[in-house]
Amino acid sequence: MKARPQNPPPPPWGQLTQTTPILDAVLRAVYASDQAMYPVALSYPRLRAWVDACPELSISFRISGRRPAVGPPPPLPAGEDDCAAVAAGVVMVLPLRRSHWEDLLAGRLKEPEIEPGRMFPGEREVEEVGLHVYHIERFEAQTGSESTGGGIAKKGFAEFALDEVVRRMQSRLEWRVIGMSALTATSAGKRTFERLGFTPTGYRELFVVKVAIGVDGAGDDSSQKMDMICVYPGDEGRPDKCLSGGVVAAMSEMAVKYNLSQPFNSGSS
Ligand SMILES: CC(C)(COP(=O)(O)OP(=O)(O)OC[C@H]1O[C@@H](n2cnc3c(N)ncnc32)[C@H](O)[C@@H]1OP(=O)(O)O)[C@@H](O)C(=O)NCCC(=O)NCCS
Repeated sequence: MKARPQNPPPPPWGQLTQTTPILDAVLRAVYASDQAMYPVALSYPRLRAWVDACPELSISFRISGRRPAVGPPPPLPAGEDDCAAVAAGVVMVLPLRRSHWEDLLAGRLKEPEIEPGRMFPGEREVEEVGLHVYHIERFEAQTGSESTGGGIAKKGFAEFALDEVVRRMQSRLEWRVIGMSALTATSAGKRTFERLGFTPTGYRELFVVKVAIGVDGAGDDSSQKMDMICVYPGDEGRPDKCLSGGVVAAMSEMAVKYNLSQPFNSGSS
């Protein structure tokens, strides 16, 4: 009996992609996606300022020369004319001077408070720098599993994107990269960074929903309120006391990796 032909494995990301800076239309989509998964008070102008202050670390990855396996091609962002390439994913990384990065790892500095003018290292300054992954996303419609119509290089986008970031930093001789961090907000994000050797710092943000019942206690006289509760390193045992009847709707966790000398896609972490 003849063996059934196997589908060939998808080619690696490196053979498929080209990179471009993040255009405004893509950044607006990132902003909307972030606000949906992680309801913090970050303004769009602040997000834009991060990208403008270090455009080489906010990268749009595009699959060149082929369309997704099935389905209509996604719209190209305004201003793009390469009709043979589709957006495959993005990564946004913020370079921070050591002291600000350490504050971020411990929760003393919150993401929306990052001021690029003061906290990013200067172009030509000799600095120790921590790289904070603010956002990473593989666009499922273009690269997802065969069952969802994609099937192009569905695995390992994070490794590929973060290796590209580290590679770009190697040509910045003034900046000595001391590590990388991420505030992981989704289960895919948590699994990914854990797989890549990141470990939790102990800082967490819990989004807690509380139902406030009206004065007369009548059925429909209630409203929902979302609070952010911060748990700092060393306080891990305490969050239950802060919940006071609320329900945790989402949780993000700061994770860090110090040794970036091995490529992420080498299989070792
Ligand atoms: C986070 C994200 C970019 C990671 O993308 P990725 O590196 O391509 O990996 P995926 O999470 O898509 O993994 C797909 C599968 O391939 C596996 N995989 C990924 N890289 C692999 C590798 N190098 N070797 C073997 N398997 C691998 C994963 O374990 C996963 O399998 P599972 O579904 O059984 O768990 C992607 O999941 C994403 O865009 N998620 C939505 C946005 C998001 O949550 N961002 C993070 C916010 S903190």
